[in-house]
Amino acid sequence: MQFKLALCVVVSLASLVFAQDRNLATVKKAFTAAHIPSDIHINFNPRVLFEVSFPQTSGPAIPVHAGLQLPRNATAGPPRFSIRSNALATRGPFVVATVDPDAPTPQTPTSAQIRHFLGGNFHLGPTGRLTNSTAAISNFLQPTPPAGSDPHRYVFLLFEQPRGFNQQKLVNSTTSIANFNISSFAAAVGLGQPIGGTFIRVGPDPSA
Ligand SMILES: *[C@@H]1O[C@H](CO)[C@@H](O)[C@H](O)[C@H]1NC(C)=O
Ligand SMILES: *[C@@H]1O[C@H](CO)[C@@H](O)[C@H](O)[C@H]1NC(C)=O
Ligand SMILES: *[C@@H]1O[C@H](CO)[C@@H](O)[C@H](O)[C@H]1NC(C)=O
Ligand SMILES: *[C@@H]1O[C@H](CO)[C@@H](O)[C@H](O)[C@H]1NC(C)=O
Repeated sequence: MQFKLALCVVVSLASLVFAQDRNLATVKKAFTAAHIPSDIHINFNPRVLFEVSFPQTSGPAIPVHAGLQLPRNATAGPPRFSIRSNALATRGPFVVATVDPDAPTPQTPTSAQIRHFLGGNFHLGPTGRLTNSTAAISNFLQPTPPAGSDPHRYVFLLFEQPRGFNQQKLVNSTTSIANFNISSFAAAVGLGQPIGGTFIRVGPDPSA
């Protein structure tokens, strides 16, 4: 009985801390409060809940809600992506991009944005899970803010994939990940505005 009660408390605490977002207005508000649309030059009017979760070496994956701060060692990834919506007529494909607008520090982001992930050909499965059918353009790079930095924002954006995306020549696996600009990339390859997004904050490793 006592064990059951304790378990209950742990589970509800965990869901309090790590719960996914349940509505689009909350996500939009969190983006605006964190100055993300203005800093990365996007219009953020999400149509779907884009869910990101980080698998852990032991225990369940950690689901992200917009603005969640995670210890660096929980962010090795690669993250899993899914969509919650019944408003989508399409099953994809979709493009996912992850950028850090705060490198090397939020105060002086001279190398931002850093491209932490870029991949296309994500298809929507029956459970909402997004599965890629091709290799990523930029593989997931774990957040690694330098020692002494304030936490960085890591922004995950979901786009509808335009025709011809697989033929884009602007970015490949050898292109520098620094000084990326998701807004100008999106404009150049016809991604339009993101249809979903979320973000996390990660500070330097305490041992760094
Ligand atoms: C991350 O590091 C903290 C201590 O800084 C430790 O308590 C925790 O178990 C570590 N988590 C993982 C997933 O390694
Ligand atoms: C999907 O992406 C992952 C990580 O980028 C990669 O390891 C995997 O090979 C990709 N799947 C396919 C079918 O290419
Ligand atoms: C990768 O893109 C760069 C430009 O960022 C280009 O110079 C290079 O030729 C491309 N490499 C391949 C293998 O396409
Ligand atoms: C990124 O591109 C947008 C145009 O889409 C531009 O307004 C902005 O100044 C660019 N940011 C940087 C840091 O170059």
